[in-house]
Amino acid sequence: MGHPGFDLRLWLAELRRLGELEEVSGADLEYEIGAITDLNAKNRGRALLFDRIPGYEHGGSVLSCSLSRPARVASALGLPEGLDVHELVERLRGLPSRWQAAAPGFRPRVVETGPVRNQVLSGSQIDLRAYPAPLWHENDGARYLGTGGTVITRDPETQDVNYGTYRVSVRDERSLGVFIEPINHGGIHLGKYHERGERAPIAASFGHGPLVHLASSMPLPYGVDELSVAGAIAGTPVDVIEGEVTGLPIPAASELAIEGWVEPGDEDWEGPFGEFTGYFAGGRERRPVIRVERVYSRGNPIIYGSLPGKPPFDHSFWRAALESSLLLDELRALVPDVSAAWKYETGSANFFNVVSIKQRYAGHAQQVGAAAALIAGGVSMGRYVVVVDDDIDVTNIDEVIWAISTRTDPAHSIQIIRDTPTNPLDPMLADPSGPWVSSRAIINACRPYHRLSDFAPVVEVSDDLARRVRDRWGARLGWTK
Ligand SMILES: Cc1cc2nc3c(=O)[nH]c(=O)nc-3n(C[C@H](O)[C@H](O)[C@H](O)COP(=O)(O)O)c2cc1C
Repeated sequence: MGHPGFDLRLWLAELRRLGELEEVSGADLEYEIGAITDLNAKNRGRALLFDRIPGYEHGGSVLSCSLSRPARVASALGLPEGLDVHELVERLRGLPSRWQAAAPGFRPRVVETGPVRNQVLSGSQIDLRAYPAPLWHENDGARYLGTGGTVITRDPETQDVNYGTYRVSVRDERSLGVFIEPINHGGIHLGKYHERGERAPIAASFGHGPLVHLASSMPLPYGVDELSVAGAIAGTPVDVIEGEVTGLPIPAASELAIEGWVEPGDEDWEGPFGEFTGYFAGGRERRPVIRVERVYSRGNPIIYGSLPGKPPFDHSFWRAALESSLLLDELRALVPDVSAAWKYETGSANFFNVVSIKQRYAGHAQQVGAAAALIAGGVSMGRYVVVVDDDIDVTNIDEVIWAISTRTDPAHSIQIIRDTPTNPLDPMLADPSGPWVSSRAIINACRPYHRLSDFAPVVEVSDDLARRVRDRWGARLGWTK
């Protein structure tokens, strides 16, 4: 018996029961599935399962918007039904560090076979164009089979395995293009093989349960096996088969998987692709080519799509909610008295991050801001970190703007860190071929530490008076808060 976190079909049955899944028949692979996905994400709609795709009537469907509402994120993580956004965020606090601590006890379990081995193709039997890979956005340069897929690589020195969500395009019958940000672990693995003059083994799964997707998309420390984290979330290990060609562990319940090699120097033009920044930045560059030697499929595979764009998009909600918890956990491990952290969805869950603290010593706010700008949860493509006192609700942009407006002196409160890593998708880079660096601004919007005791008091109704007034007048005056 499988687990819905790893087996997409079991999870989709769960979403149907919750009324969270919409089946869409007959939408076109060329732009229509992409446009429906984008508009549906902006409407915070149900998950979409596209079937009977013209040209693919006999097999293959595409899933999108799978995790764009709290109910579906809660279902994927095994949290209670009926949580609203705030309750979900509360429940997530502290969980990422607990999952990571528990992960070594849930290493993937190697099994002889599984649904992914229903069809195994090799050599000339392989035609990657047979699977529904949408042309998602109107200016995309190729069909992308991998948007919510996971790419599996290995460190040649430690043998540690990595699962990373990286976009994968279809080039021809037997080759794929892949884009990996320079700081992401799969790219480091490929580079290590190539430095030795060796070809790099690689595998990918294009459809799997939501925990495989979530874990492989989270910025976890180098060396952490994401499938162990998926197992820790589920409380049971993920079953994997060993690839016949590379030996890489492939989720046994995967809908569609491939394995093959990236030869040193084997690169070709990849992109453009509409990305999570809201731009087609990154352009068309020479990037690694995967030569595919095996395809494994359940038959009629469901492709796990996850479409980026201008926020809000398919996965911007869960990234903001879950990665905020991850950032909070990371910060708490480094510095004391961090109260809350929030990565704004409108900042593509990357560019604009707010952290609140209870100030304990001079320099505390600056220390937290620098840490938040540079640790894994903030480094990939950060831009602004705002540090506020803990009377500010980090999720409320109005309160954050009020703090910036009233508790900063721009000449002193904004610090710049130069030459920090960014990635080729950054629309502010003049040249996507590099160097991939930019700066970070840390806005210290806390009351100055040495004036904490005599800083001007805030004009507001006290909690006690507010409660009494609300009880007496709120309903009559039609107040909602
Ligand atoms: C839907 C989705 C698509 C993504 N696409 C890419 C991509 O094309 N390339 C990339 O390097 N990172 C991409 N990411 C981000 C990485 O998955 C993320 O940084 C992850 O932490 C990488 O794992 P790693 O640290 O093990 O390399 C994507 C994330 C999501 C959620």
